[in-house]
Amino acid sequence: MLENKLGIKDAIELARVEERISKRKALAMWSDPEFERLSAGTFSTLAFIHRTLFEDIYEFAGRFRSVNISKGHFRFASALYLREAVETIERLPQSTFDEIIDKYVEMNVAHPFREGNGRSMRLWLDHMLKRELRRVIEWRLVDKGRYLTAMERSPLDVTPIKNLLSDALTASTDDREIFVKGLDASYFYEDYIAYRSADLDEQGRH
Ligand SMILES: Nc1ncnc2c1ncn2[C@@H]1O[C@H](COP(=O)(O)OP(=O)(O)O)[C@@H](O)[C@H]1O
Ligand SMILES: [Mg+2]
Repeated sequence: MLENKLGIKDAIELARVEERISKRKALAMWSDPEFERLSAGTFSTLAFIHRTLFEDIYEFAGRFRSVNISKGHFRFASALYLREAVETIERLPQSTFDEIIDKYVEMNVAHPFREGNGRSMRLWLDHMLKRELRRVIEWRLVDKGRYLTAMERSPLDVTPIKNLLSDALTASTDDREIFVKGLDASYFYEDYIAYRSADLDEQGRH
């Protein structure tokens, strides 16, 4: 279990609180014009997203991890070379769908944060797609099992994740319902299922 600012010692409680707080932050960020204006495809924007979601919960919000991590059989970039890796990734082109997904896959291989890479990076990807192509992913249409399998495969072969995500592209970039449902899908991929964003959104906007 991760050390947290809230002094929570129970993993299940931490997961619930993390979900509630960070979903509310994501909902507020989505309608914030400051977020809209950030540079697309940069690490500073990814760090902004990560910090916004997790700053009330973790000291490491928006900061490079200092430990090495792996998932399944895959070991992400060495903590020692993260800065260099991320600087290289930032310079990758992002003018077509293919280029943007290649960049997303590279940033996933870097996995710059201790936790919360998946959720923050999907918001970063949508920000980049919206800016460059006037499209976003309709995440509720992207099946969890197929998504995770395609991401596991992506360091070796980007075709499955490109096919999966291109089928879920939408031009409705400003549709709040698509975003809100997509946020729940993104959290569902990581097994956070305690809160519906639509309910949090209602409370947050009263
Ligand atoms: N074996 C793997 N190889 C490459 N990427 C993976 C693998 N397993 C998961 N991922 C990616 O890592 C993300 C989860 O990273 P993590 O830091 O735990 O984020 P979060 O805390 O938001 O769940 C997944 O959404 C997926 O995109
Ligand atoms: Mg996780």
